[in-house]
Amino acid sequence: MRVVAYVNGHYVDLDKAVVPVEDRSCQFADGVYEVSRFIGRRPVRLGEHLQRLEESCALLGIKGAPAAEDWRRIIARLLDDSGIPHDNAFETILYQQVSRGAAPRSHLFPPASTPPSCVAYFRIKPAYTAKQRSGGVALISQPDERWNRCNIKSVCLLPSVLAKQAAHDAGGFEALLVRDGIVTEGSSTNAFCVRGGKILTHPDGPRILSGVTRGLAFDAAALAGIEVVLQPVTFQEYIAADEAFLTSTTMNVMPVTSVDGKPIATGAVGPVTSRLAAAVDDLMWRELRANREFTCAGEP
Ligand code: PDD
Repeated sequence: MRVVAYVNGHYVDLDKAVVPVEDRSCQFADGVYEVSRFIGRRPVRLGEHLQRLEESCALLGIKGAPAAEDWRRIIARLLDDSGIPHDNAFETILYQQVSRGAAPRSHLFPPASTPPSCVAYFRIKPAYTAKQRSGGVALISQPDERWNRCNIKSVCLLPSVLAKQAAHDAGGFEALLVRDGIVTEGSSTNAFCVRGGKILTHPDGPRILSGVTRGLAFDAAALAGIEVVLQPVTFQEYIAADEAFLTSTTMNVMPVTSVDGKPIATGAVGPVTSRLAAAVDDLMWRELRANREFTCAGEP
């Protein structure tokens, strides 16, 4: 695959793709982003990702980014130029970023005439191992030191980066973020637990990013007859749960079998998690098969 990037109207090889030093994403983390998944040329819930990108821009007052239809045209060109095949075994992620543009450094917003800086490109999707899928992953708890507007998918990711690295250094797969004794989410995932057959997760709001996969999981749970309860869960409740799992664009449902080195329940992947994981994959595939937006007639 050739990695081609869209940068402000131009399509160039990624190693030639640059933004100015005074781009506000570099100096102020003044920008937003999206990560969405493609299987062959079929996107997973692209509409939701494009909508969240628009909402993130609106919440920060970043104006002039491409509308969803324009992004779809850009994405169609990137799929072609990157040589992404009609092959369901070929999985990529699309990264999109919009910043408030480039302007002489000043904390104040630049003049309204400053265009936003828009970037997009595909990369091969990270793969997870069969062992992680069947045996679950380990979480390491970390204080949630992020700001109070986590519902915005902002590139201001340093607290998440530090938490993920600390979890990794302690032998964990992901950081479980805890604020005021409450589990909020993972550093780049949404966090769930299961108690008495019901799925519990943090309510929407400024403390979490409302993941697109979290929405997919809610829809799949409804179809599978699994109840979802949106309520804050304390760290103590989380580690005493029957089951736990994460969701994100790159992994769909990932079982969690330990936190801070202690097993969740028996330390095995739980039945509700397994049922939900299968229901999420089923629903995703049903939606994908019905989506011919970037594919041609007769293709798989
Ligand atoms: N992260 N919570 C946070 C803080 C995230 O950064 C993400 C996604 C999620 C899951 O959202 P979704 O289901 O829409 O992927 C939850 C992306 C994948 C990233 O930063 O790479």
